[in-house]
Amino acid sequence: MNLPEDRNLQWCVARRPQGNVVQDDFLLQESAVPECGEGQVLLRTLYLNLAPLMRMYMLGEAVTDEAPLAIGDVIHGRGVAQVIESQHADFLVGDIVQGQIGWQTFKVSSVTPQERISKVADRGLSYGLSLGPLGMTGFSAYFGFLERGRPRPGDVVVVSAAAGGVGSMVIQLAKIHGCHVIGIAGGKEKTAAISSWCDATIDYKNESVPQRLVELLPQGLDIYFDNVGGETLSACLDNLKLGARIVLCGRISEYLLDQPYGLTNYSKLGRVDASMHGFFVYNYAEHFARAEKQMASWISDDKFKPLVDVVEGFENMPSGLAKLYDHKNIGTMYCRVREIQDL
Ligand SMILES: NC(=O)c1ccc[n+]([C@@H]2O[C@H](COP(=O)([O-])OP(=O)(O)OC[C@H]3O[C@@H](n4cnc5c(N)ncnc54)[C@H](OP(=O)(O)O)[C@@H]3O)[C@@H](O)[C@H]2O)c1
Repeated sequence: MNLPEDRNLQWCVARRPQGNVVQDDFLLQESAVPECGEGQVLLRTLYLNLAPLMRMYMLGEAVTDEAPLAIGDVIHGRGVAQVIESQHADFLVGDIVQGQIGWQTFKVSSVTPQERISKVADRGLSYGLSLGPLGMTGFSAYFGFLERGRPRPGDVVVVSAAAGGVGSMVIQLAKIHGCHVIGIAGGKEKTAAISSWCDATIDYKNESVPQRLVELLPQGLDIYFDNVGGETLSACLDNLKLGARIVLCGRISEYLLDQPYGLTNYSKLGRVDASMHGFFVYNYAEHFARAEKQMASWISDDKFKPLVDVVEGFENMPSGLAKLYDHKNIGTMYCRVREIQDL
């Protein structure tokens, strides 16, 4: 699809999804490119993020500090964009920024704190990585694992959805920190994709997770980084070492259920002085610059390899979101909307 440069395209909520998202849950709207006023910037979208959370936005849930979406609203989402007009003192035409863009091809921003619009440093890497290791997905892995997991060399670390966006970064951070890493993912293709960063993998679609954990970890685990919740979290609770840390990042296995999974064995924390700790990436906002610099330096030094799954074309945003719940992504998913323009 050739995107019109004189019209704004927006993906909006047509109806509340039931189960995984399907095309009829989305409505494509077309309107004039918005006008840039005093104190504002006009942004031309380059990349848009795809994350499990966006289905919750479509359900109208208040999952972040974004306003709950009504039917007809433009779907929330972070993106990378080029400033093509500026009436704001801090931004020049041509600057590349990231922040809350929404599922649209142009946006006028007043650069409010809630939009979290900030310039993207040119580090000689793809700007799309600002939606991967150099943005919220990377920061979730970085702060969740380092601040909440508190890894020490030799720690046994188990990571679920280990071939997904956050998971594929956590296994690499664990390796950088000298840990023994077990990655759990669904299917042979995914376990093969992450095997070079793992000491062992568990293919949960073809193997029993409880059985494999006992076989692989007779002494138990030190850190479980949980992206999925449910049965996998329960199996890890049964295999804790003294002082183990469970980091509750996400629970994607429960997002399509009517009722959350009822965890019954959390008392396993007690006997081994273990802890289970949630976190929310935006609570670390004042430290994002440090994480971005560190992750970029690991990438440049070949210590860290971004695993990305790029959807081509704005028209494919709905099917891209469905892929996350269909288990089809390997690595961080984002959409390449268009190329940078020569200005
Ligand atoms: N706490 C925070 O601040 C924060 C920030 C960002 C993300 N998150 C959460 O972190 C998790 C990972 O996010 P992400 O953006 O990196 O997404 P992601 O891991 O790339 O999510 C997609 C993957 O999840 C797995 N999955 C899907 N349905 C599943 C199911 N029913 N049971 C088990 N696994 C399932 C699939 O991998 P397999 O094929 O291997 O099953 C799929 O490829 C999500 O739960 C997200 O909500 C939390």
